[in-house]
Amino acid sequence: MADRKPFIAGNWKMYKTGPEAAELAEELKKLVCDVNGVDIMIAPPFTALGTVYEIIKGSNIQLGGQNLFWKTEGAYTGEISPSMLRSAGCSYVIIGHSERRQHFGETDETISKKIRAALDAELKPILCIGESLEERESNQTYSVLDNQLERCLQGLTSDDIHNLTIAYEPVWAIGTGKTATRDQVQGAHSHIRKRLKEKFGILVEKSLRILYGGSVKPENIKGLMSMPDVDGALVGGASLKAESFAGIIRFND
Ligand code: PGA
Repeated sequence: MADRKPFIAGNWKMYKTGPEAAELAEELKKLVCDVNGVDIMIAPPFTALGTVYEIIKGSNIQLGGQNLFWKTEGAYTGEISPSMLRSAGCSYVIIGHSERRQHFGETDETISKKIRAALDAELKPILCIGESLEERESNQTYSVLDNQLERCLQGLTSDDIHNLTIAYEPVWAIGTGKTATRDQVQGAHSHIRKRLKEKFGILVEKSLRILYGGSVKPENIKGLMSMPDVDGALVGGASLKAESFAGIIRFND
């Protein structure tokens, strides 16, 4: 566990205008400025990246994008390139969130291209994977995870793994208030780690962080973080209020 520093990431989804995002970032910065044993990231909507970056620059909070397109530039109306995210101050990018798969037709193939493009631009990708309720109930969870990992990470080398984070987000637990049990989470995380260790070697044990996402709140974070393969959380709803997100970040207080 030595090198796997806890990592708490907030996904603001399609919430917060520029001024609202600025207010939330200011409040959060005050509440967590003394935290140093946890990596912290927030991913506001694209339109608020610049404003939020000005507020958190030089602090212990890092910036992330919620998505990107894999091309460097061109006639791709409505898309954002890796270098645009970098120049807006991002060091991370969330890729393959289930809402993007569900509503915007993302596939493991497009996700794989996005991961490659993010790594090439020195952005650290957070790859989201997870099963639906139907898949869990028919005992397909681990095979679904295996397939997603295989397809989304194809072509990557062990060197790429340094900069990758995996977020295990069971689709049925996202935004539903239904958190997976600690044992379900630990089972999935240890399965993911085992698979990736087979593929990429020992580094996966030492440094690959696996976050859990799905209705994480200040009340359940401590229990989740007590599991040996849980290295942090990707937080949606509870990251939209400075106090609740700070409560999650300060899980160890
Ligand atoms: P939630 O979202 O915390 O609101 O369940 C998690 C996510 O979508 O990453």
